[in-house]
Amino acid sequence: MTENLDKTILLLPGDGIGEEITQQAVRIIDWINGKKLDRITVTHGLIGGASYEAHGVPLSDDTLAAARKASAILMGSVGGPQWDNVDYAKRPEAGLLKLRKELDLFANLRPAIVFDALVDASTLKPEIVRGLDILIVRELTGGVYFGEPRGVEDLGSGERRGINTHVYTTSEVLRAARVAFDLARKRDGRVCSCDKANVMEAGKMWREDVTALHEKEFSDVELTHMYADNCAMQLLRAPAQFDVIFTDNLFGDMLSDEAAMLTGSLGMLPSASLGAQNPETGMPFALYEPVHGSAPDIAGQNIANPLATILSLAMLLRYSFDRGDLADLVENAVKNTLEKGVRTADITDTNHPDAVSTAGMGDAVLRELEILSGEAKASLAS
Ligand code: IPM
Ligand code: MG
Repeated sequence: MTENLDKTILLLPGDGIGEEITQQAVRIIDWINGKKLDRITVTHGLIGGASYEAHGVPLSDDTLAAARKASAILMGSVGGPQWDNVDYAKRPEAGLLKLRKELDLFANLRPAIVFDALVDASTLKPEIVRGLDILIVRELTGGVYFGEPRGVEDLGSGERRGINTHVYTTSEVLRAARVAFDLARKRDGRVCSCDKANVMEAGKMWREDVTALHEKEFSDVELTHMYADNCAMQLLRAPAQFDVIFTDNLFGDMLSDEAAMLTGSLGMLPSASLGAQNPETGMPFALYEPVHGSAPDIAGQNIANPLATILSLAMLLRYSFDRGDLADLVENAVKNTLEKGVRTADITDTNHPDAVSTAGMGDAVLRELEILSGEAKASLAS
């Protein structure tokens, strides 16, 4: 097994359920270290509302500096109603957006995989979602999330004008599209690019740029285009038609929440945000986080589903630490846990009505890791 002394994870639990769910991922890191399967150092930082309360900003310069130094970042979630009236620039979400922008985390990978054991937890019919394996590649540092001008203008007499700008350059489209095409090559070889070329000039440009790149460098991959609204509909009608969905920041935000529900619960979907190469580590900057939010309504109750975070850790092991073997181990432990019927409240069904706690789910995954690693040892010995 490889050992590398420089593997550091900056853990940013954030707000709401962030603390309790990331804690379960830390237990898995501890397990990996304890078994001497790797040597991973975890450092802690504040982001979102937690940082705003402590420092008056949702992302401090110190945390940003620590983020630049770490080999990878594992985040929980940000936001909560107590910060609803805070200025946009200081809201919890702004901390996450700043981190994405500062580290240039332009490619957001959101895999939606339906575990066989959870087929009945989906709100869609089992025959529609069984075996589903979609990867959404969402452009993450452009579009309406960051476009200028933005703001609300006072036009007088109680009239206001709210402005946000959807804007992309060709190079922004192409670098993210490259990631989508590259990943498709390792999967089923199909990319569906989603835009609103029928109403947006920037969408038409998106389509043309993706098509040109495809012709030039990726003609071995199948490329189709779809309007984003149609894609939203197709995801519910026949989701199995998709392999990789490539789309912009805003459509990707929405389509990934929708895709998450196909899998049974928003609590199941991990994500990786990859960026430019970090000169300090030689690896791409990378942030891993569950797709779901901070769920303030259930925070602190030890009932949230930690699997999206645990699966985000698996992505981290695969993409940032090049430990596909450990990633497989964690993903298989999750799969086995579900197959044994262990459920948090969000994924119970008629056959599995009883829910375990957040920590209980962590216990169950650790149990499966023990079993799997024992089996691996036994097969080596025989
Ligand atoms: C997501 C979230 C974020 C986003 C929020 C928390 C800023 O919804 O990662 O999907 O809109 O990108
Ligand atoms: Mg979202």
